[in-house]
Formats: sequence, structure tokens, C-alpha cells
Amino acid sequence: MATESHAASSPARIRLIQPDDWHLHLRDGSVLRHVVLDSARQFGRAIIMPNLKPPVLTLEDARAYRDRIRNALRLACEQAGADAMPSFEPLMTLYLTDRTTPDEIRRARDSGFVHGVKLYPAGATTHSDAGVTDLLGQCRTTLAAMQACGMPLLVHGEVTDPAVDLFDREAVFIERVMQPLRRAFPELKVVFEHLTTADGAAYVMQAEGPIGATLTPQHLLYNRNALFKGGLRPHWYCLPVLKRETHRLALLEAATSGNPRFFLGTDSAPHPRGAKEQDCGCAGCYTARYAMALYATAFESVGRLDRLEAFASKHGPAFYGLPPNPGALILERGGNPIPRDLPLGEDVVVPLAAGESLPWRVSQDAEQA
Ligand code: DOR
Ligand code: ZN
Repeated sequence: MATESHAASSPARIRLIQPDDWHLHLRDGSVLRHVVLDSARQFGRAIIMPNLKPPVLTLEDARAYRDRIRNALRLACEQAGADAMPSFEPLMTLYLTDRTTPDEIRRARDSGFVHGVKLYPAGATTHSDAGVTDLLGQCRTTLAAMQACGMPLLVHGEVTDPAVDLFDREAVFIERVMQPLRRAFPELKVVFEHLTTADGAAYVMQAEGPIGATLTPQHLLYNRNALFKGGLRPHWYCLPVLKRETHRLALLEAATSGNPRFFLGTDSAPHPRGAKEQDCGCAGCYTARYAMALYATAFESVGRLDRLEAFASKHGPAFYGLPPNPGALILERGGNPIPRDLPLGEDVVVPLAAGESLPWRVSQDAEQA
């Protein structure tokens, strides 16, 4: 990573290997064309979450969804009057259910374009009702097939037991699900998605075998006070929910440690404004458009911009067995105001930190190409 400045500690520009987003919700239908370009302008590739309605269950579902994403990107570029279409590769995933077969896993692996299978414990989050009811009870042969063919399991790591406090659900998941799973399948590649606790970070650091973890910008920048600052703030609500400051600091420490197990995954999850601002609002923060500026802000807060490139552009590809991207992305210092809302299908989405201004922005320089 090259930084250009007189004072190395506060560079004016940063040139990174083009980053990837290892956890992204793009949705479907008329929403797709409004969100896909936000990601494609920064990221070379993204792991595309399968929690559509209905979910992406089969290789054929994943292929059709990938085609819709590519078409939406083409359309979005035309509408934006872009000279050239950014090269953006959607890395597809399947949605694990109690009925996913070992055959489907092997076919997906052979396709070369499905890069993971997502575990949503049933009831844990948005569109998780078709998820797994009992991982080791229902999915053993499928997990064995995944382990055998090197297909990563991408884990939403929260128990759904209503008796467990919402803020403890990640820590309890480690004991009740993650540890038994990894004892039973020690060679299974696992990504602990959107880590939110010091417990999770400590577990990932010391665990044996192939494990990685994604970290979102909101969990690096905010603690749970953000949910209640001056009133109830639905646009800071995601799952797993923001935790207390000690956890945020532990996550920031993990992200900026240089440990290759930690990599970038925004979990950018657009919901129409009305679906969040209501009596039972949806979980999910829209961060895609400002993702790299948000991460740069977090890394700079602890004087660790020098570790941003490894986190954003190297650790993820290494875990997934892919080469780093050939291109580059330039971030430059300068006010980056976040609008109050952005178009989303026939509706609007309120981005995280709407109305605030970030100290970094993605450069529009031709040098990026
Ligand atoms: O906040 C979240 N939103 N967490 C998830 O796990 C799912 C996501 C979504 O799809 O909206
Ligand atoms: Zn997600």
C-alpha cells in the first residue's frame, strides 16, 4: 500500500490493491440496479448473500441470480452514463437448509462460481425462516461434503433461543454451536460472519483449523449507544446488534492487528426507509456506497491506515483461495457528505450515518483504472 503525504501518519491519499467485500446483500428486482454500482465502484468482487425471498437454494438459483446481478450492473452503468463498466465479480453462495443435499454442494463446488454456503439459524435475522433448525442434527452429511470439497460455511453466529439475552447470543453461539461444529468437522472452512464481540474475536484468534471472520464498518465505528442517541435510531439497527464499547475496541484491535483471519465484509443490507422506520423495523445498515471511506475512518482512528490494505484486499482472497485483484483503488482525504437518502427501487434507503460527513472519499482519478 502506498501512502502519499509529508506526514506519513496522516496521508492525503492512499493507494490500495482493489478491495473485495466478503459479505454483501444486494437483494433482487428493481432494488438491484440501485445498489450494485455502489459496490462495483469500490470492490472487485463480493460474496453475495443468498437470503432472498425465496432463498438461493440451488446451483441453478445461484446462476440465475448472478445473471440478474450482471444485467443490473450493465443497466446501472448505462443509467449513470458511465464510460466503462467496472469489472465486478459476484461470488455466489447457497442458503443452507435442513434439506440441502451433499450432491448440491458438490455440483456448486464444481461450478467454480459458488464460493460458500450460508448458515442462517432459523429465526436469527432477516429472511432466515427457511434456515437451519438443528445444524449437527440435520446437516451432517452436507457438512461432511462441504469439508471434503473445501466449500466454506459462512456462519451467522447467533443462537435464537429466546431465553438468551440478545447481547449474549454470539458468545453463547460459540459454546453451543461453533465449538461442537468444529470438533465434528475440524477441516471445514468456516467464516464467522460479522463478528460483534470480544468473545468472538478471541475465539477466532485462538481457534485451530481453517477459520476466518468478517468485520463490518458499523461494528468498528459504533457501539450500542448509537442505537439510542437522542432517541431510537433504526438506521443503526442490524443483527447481530451493536455491542458495548469494550467489544468495539476488541474488534478494532482484531481488524487492525494484521492477523490474516480478519477481513472486510460490509454486511451492507438495504431496506426501504419505511421498513426500518416502523413499529417493528428490519435489521440491516446500508453501508455499500461509503464502505471504504467508513473503514478508512475506523483504521485511522487508531493510527493504523497502514494495515487497511491487508484487511481489505489481501486476507479475504487468501482465505478463499483466490488471487488479489489486479486493479487499485485510491482513497483521498476530503469531506464526503453522506446524503439523507438514496434511491432504492421505487423507494429510498437511508444510509448509515446519513447527514454526517466522512474524512475520506474514493478518488475519481483515472489512475484507478
Ligand atoms: O442486519 C442484518 N441484516 N443482519 C443480517 O444478518 C441480515 C441482514 C439483511 O439481510 O437485512
Ligand atoms: Zn448479512
